Formats: sequence, C-alpha cells, structure tokens
Amino acid sequence: MSSHQPDPNINVNLTIDGIPVTVPEGTRILEAAKKVNINIPVLCEHPELCKRALCRICVVEFDGRPKLITACGNDVWEGVNIVTKNERLFYVRKTIIEMILANHPQNCLSCVRSKSCELQILASQFGITTSSFTNEPDEIQPVVESETLVRDMSKCVKCNRCVEVCQETQKIGAINTSRRGHEYEICTAFNQPLEDVKCVFCGGCASVCPVGAIYGHDQTKEVWKALGDSGIKTAAQVSDEIIPYLESELRFVSTGKLLSTGKSPSNGQPLSVGQLVAAIKLLGFDKVYNAAVTVNVVNAEIIDEVQTRKKSGAKLPVISGYAEGVTRFINNFYPDLKENLTSAKNLRQQFAALIKADGAITTVSFVSGIAQKYTASHAKTDFALTAAELARMIKTAGIVIEALPEEPFDVFDCEASKQSGKQPVGTFKKETVHGYAQSREVMESIQKGECDAQWVEILDFIRKFDN
Ligand code: SF4
Ligand code: SF4
Ligand code: FES
Repeated sequence: MSSHQPDPNINVNLTIDGIPVTVPEGTRILEAAKKVNINIPVLCEHPELCKRALCRICVVEFDGRPKLITACGNDVWEGVNIVTKNERLFYVRKTIIEMILANHPQNCLSCVRSKSCELQILASQFGITTSSFTNEPDEIQPVVESETLVRDMSKCVKCNRCVEVCQETQKIGAINTSRRGHEYEICTAFNQPLEDVKCVFCGGCASVCPVGAIYGHDQTKEVWKALGDSGIKTAAQVSDEIIPYLESELRFVSTGKLLSTGKSPSNGQPLSVGQLVAAIKLLGFDKVYNAAVTVNVVNAEIIDEVQTRKKSGAKLPVISGYAEGVTRFINNFYPDLKENLTSAKNLRQQFAALIKADGAITTVSFVSGIAQKYTASHAKTDFALTAAELARMIKTAGIVIEALPEEPFDVFDCEASKQSGKQPVGTFKKETVHGYAQSREVMESIQKGECDAQWVEILDFIRKFDN
C-alpha cells in the first residue's frame, strides 16, 4: 500500500472527457470533473462526509483500460485520461440503479422523499420506468421513533451516510452496521428502538439519508386536524431564522429541483418576517408569536440561574440546549453532569407557559431542524414542525407567500416576556458549542475542572447538515 501523502501544493495535469484540467494533488476524480462542469452521478457520496465508494454508480474509465474505478473513491494522478460518459458506462450505471430498485419498495407516490429522493432522481435521469429485475423489496415495516424520526429500512440503499454521521460527526454511535453481503444492514444494538439506545434525536442521520429510509416524523396531519377544529385555539411561534430554510424548501417544492439550503433566493426579494406571519395566520392559526421572545425568556431564566448558583456555590457551568436531546445526551453519556443541566424550561415548554393566558390548546413551534421535534413528554398538543413541513403546508393551502402583505406578530400578554428583554447579559462567560462531537470535548473539560465558562449552551446539530 502506498504511504504517499498528497501535497496540495503540487499540481496534477490530466484530461476528463478530453478536456485538460489542472488540480492540486489529492483531488478526487469527482471534484476534478466538476471543475470542468461535468457532474458524475453519485448515490452514496456526500460532500461533507468521508470517501465510502459503496454504490459504484460513479464509475469511470481511465487510460482506455477495461477496469472501472469510482470517481468518488479515487484521487486523480498525473497524465491520466478519464472518461466519464459513453454507452458502456451508461449501461453499467443503469444496471446498478435497476438492481437497487429491484430491492426497493416502488411506492414513490406515497414516499415522504418523493421528488427529493436521490435514487428517484437518478432513475429518472437514466430513463428507468421499469426494472429488468423482479421487484423483491425486504418486508420491513416503518418504525416511528419517538415523535422525531421514522425509520423505514425497506428503503435503505446501504450508503452508510447515516452511520458515519452518527458515529463520526456526532460521536453518538446509536446506529451501526451488521452482517455482511446481502444481509448487510443498518441497525441499532439488538435492533432496539432508538429511544432505548443512546440516540439523542439530533436528526443527523435523516439529514443525510438520500432516500426515504430515515426521515423526520411528519406531524402536519395532527396540526391540520387542530387547525380545522374551531373548538381548538391554536398558537404558533416562529422566528426569522427559519426564513432561508423556508425559501429553499418553497423553491424546491415549486421547481422539483434540489437546491442548497440556507441561502436567500437569487431571483427576487427575500421573504420578510411579516409575510411569514401572514402565511401562518392564513393556514388558520389564531395567534402567531415571535420565538425570539421565548428565547429571551429562557435565556433570562438561565442568567438568573447562573447568578444564583454562583452565590450559593452550586455546580457550574449551567448546561442548556434548545432541544431536549441535550438532556438525553447528558443522561446517556455524562450522568455525573446531570446537576449542571439547567432547570429552566426548554423553548417549547416555555412557549406553552407564556401563551397559557390566551387559552391556546395546541402549540406549534416552527423550527429549523429535526432535533427540536424531540420531546420526552409526548404531549399530544405540542408540536414542532420543520421548514420543510411548513413549506408543504403553505403549498397545500395554495398560499402565494411572496405576494402577501405583511402582518405583525401577536404580543405575549405576560410579565415574563416584558421583563426578558431588560435582563442584563451578565458578567460571566458563555460558551456555545455546535454538535455533539464538540460537546463531548467541552463536557470532558468540565469533568476535569478545566472549563472556565459559567454557561455552556449546546446547539444540537451542525449547520452544514441542516435540512
Ligand atoms: S438521531 Fe442523531 S443520535 Fe440518533 S441515530 Fe440519528 S444521528 Fe444518531
Ligand atoms: S438509512 Fe439512509 S443514510 Fe442510512 S444507509 Fe440507509 S439509505 Fe443510507
Ligand atoms: S457515489 Fe461513488 S461509489 Fe457511490
């Protein structure tokens, strides 16, 4: 095996489909092709994850040899001539897709990932309408994992993205692989539900799954039901942070094209908060509140808590997080730090408390990530919907959000919300950590007495994977 480490300061010259290209040593064939505007089809590949080269859809020819190599799993080398498209490669890739489809339930119409499924898009690009192979999907039923995730392993294409995110990116290790060959599967220890293993319901696995095998548990049906019942008062909280995600999702729903998230539209004005409020009201919500106020109230409680603990000599830092998965994280991995967990309510509980005066029965928090769907309480009147779910509701209702006149937020009628903005920031150190891998480092520094922060806020997931 070569021990040569690629040097990014050395340039490599090659051709891709006859086009000369120069890239730094260590560049994969896939990226070199992109540089000359050639997109090689992929399935297991994910730009933010390690090389896996499992599905072999990205195979290419080199130097006129019969052997095929993967574009995602191989770096370029000096003088190589790569061919990314010809009749042979087309049929090899098409056959691989057909073989995957042969083991896949072909119920795309009812699949949550329909139109955004990477396998479905590939099948359409290769003009596959029927497979040459008999369709024999595994007979595995979907499992609803808490109120956060659904796992439908009959749709798994065994790309391993989820395992890598759970094991390496988040360092949680709730899911893994087992067995080999055709019995190879993605599972939890002893096939237990995620609630019974160390899963923290961050939603990372769902964010990278290319198909409908792991996805956020859609609770729009329950919310539509509450909205349709005139006897149920409904209140929503939302903040402007969701807007870039919503815009991306709305454009996706309209165009059917996969777009990167978190970006403002290049055509036209970005949506305003007032239009967001107007759209949510049109869906039928009685009241729409600014989630930023709830955040202020929660933060004010935590600031108080830090000050009280400082005075009494109780354990510091206070550990908090907007998602309840943070509590599971501490309980599962750092039980000795349980006492450091904040006693303040989380965002959803706080919202329910703030609007109590309005008599609302059903509360909905519109959130930017799946992680905030997780709640240990399993309350049937409190929901968290993601930007993707809100986009679908807006489209289903036929609302043209960008044409709506702006509407203001409703105002909380309680003392806590009025006082929250006046709360001093405090004279102590706050540390915000992103994702659970980084959180582990900070938790270990607390255990060793090396953390000088008085407040550690864990943001459950890493933005680059948000969907
Ligand atoms: S939700 Fe997070 S912790 Fe749970 S299995 Fe998925 S990636 Fe792992
Ligand atoms: S569940 Fe999704 S991400 Fe995980 S291996 Fe299967 S297809 Fe890939
Ligand atoms: S995308 Fe390259 S092997 Fe799967």
